[in-house]
Amino acid sequence: MAHRNTPWWRQGMDISSLPRMVTDSPGPQSQAMHARASAIIKGLSGQVKLHPVCFKEGYGVVLRDVDGNEYIDFSSGIYVTTLGHCHPKVSEAVAKAAHTLMNAHDFTTPIKTKLLEKLVSILPRGVNGVQLYDSGTTAVEAALRAARAYTGKHEFISCYMDFHGKSGHSVSLAKMNPTNGPARAEGFYLVPRPDPYRPLFTKPDGTIDTDAYIAFFDNFIDNVTTGQVAAFVLEPIQGWAGSIMPPDDFFPKLRALCDRRNILLIADEVLTCMGRTAKWLALEHWDTVADISTLGKGFGNGFPVTAMVAREEIKESFEKISASTSYGGNPMACAAALASINVIEDEGLLENAAMLERFFLARLQKMQEEHPIIGHVRVKGCLLGVELVKDRTTKEPFDEAGKRVYKSAFRKGLAWIPAGHILRLSPPIIMDEEVAGKGMDILDEAIGEVERELGYA
Ligand SMILES: Cc1ncc(COP(=O)(O)O)c(C=O)c1O
Repeated sequence: MAHRNTPWWRQGMDISSLPRMVTDSPGPQSQAMHARASAIIKGLSGQVKLHPVCFKEGYGVVLRDVDGNEYIDFSSGIYVTTLGHCHPKVSEAVAKAAHTLMNAHDFTTPIKTKLLEKLVSILPRGVNGVQLYDSGTTAVEAALRAARAYTGKHEFISCYMDFHGKSGHSVSLAKMNPTNGPARAEGFYLVPRPDPYRPLFTKPDGTIDTDAYIAFFDNFIDNVTTGQVAAFVLEPIQGWAGSIMPPDDFFPKLRALCDRRNILLIADEVLTCMGRTAKWLALEHWDTVADISTLGKGFGNGFPVTAMVAREEIKESFEKISASTSYGGNPMACAAALASINVIEDEGLLENAAMLERFFLARLQKMQEEHPIIGHVRVKGCLLGVELVKDRTTKEPFDEAGKRVYKSAFRKGLAWIPAGHILRLSPPIIMDEEVAGKGMDILDEAIGEVERELGYA
């Protein structure tokens, strides 16, 4: 069942004329505002540099820029506003807290207690230890500290092309570059993870061989680590790398490996939690429970609130790592997270995300039949990935096409996030088929246009 009632964001909105583009995009006001800001702020992301729009307002599934153009939102900020922009119940809850009590350090407050109890009620049975933080990165760092405190071991294994944040240890869980070096922190190791479209280990029939990855990890633990591995840390679905989804047998087999080797499983669910993939936690798709998970992004639907959660037997070790932070668990943050969970339940949004998954998958598969440059499509809930390739046999990434499709679709009124040749789409889970279809139409048109420009049609 999709939305239980007419969605709040549709009331008073003329959906038929969405998107509404009144100037070229980026328009003159956007360009002028961006010029002023970018003279001061440096290091902006590639997507902003490619298409420097200046957003002014957001409501539900719509974003408005300073020139008055209205876009359909397929980005949710950066996977953050899972419930759309300015959900009245979330905004009101934050405003009320902001007028009542803004900070009480790690003292208990009524709103924090309610959030903790509510959160535990939606987590897998037995996951009932929580610490609250203010960014995905700080939650990931806490997970590493908790794993070390619980196991007494210090090493970590993570995966190629995962992303876990930008602090000292979280960068060591991912790809290093010369500026976050000089080297990976000691005791941090990376291994390849299974990508069904680009498998490293295959069976004789060419399909992905999950057992070979698991055998490799076993081998790696014996031959590369010192045997002091505290945890295997990974994203359930790789976000930054391009919505890369594991084969269905991967997580159950990884869970078994961790149990056999006495290693904790840490799922970094910062991007995938709270309905993004149509489940509270993405690992539920594979009936797997992590020992420790990190929550962020959609957890507060835009308010910076994150969490590190763990199974009962691990939570006592949290005593060794302190729950004290300046902002983590402040009343406004707790109000945002609590209201977001309640909204997901009250509005049947996990079901709505599952409905959207079926819709998006069918549309993308149809587009794949029609567009030779689409090499692979994948969808879980409202987390979508589309790989553009120069040739379906060689699977050579088509970065130029990715860039052009991004700009073309944005100009037509679709706000979204590219990743080189991979189109990453993350619409809010409140969307309905009508608006979702409009977004897909824009993408379809933009891909067709780029194929013609590049001689593929
Ligand atoms: C899986 C994952 N972990 C951690 C982070 C870091 O979160 P934050 O930017 O809130 O520090 C991100 C951010 O994109 C992420 O996607």
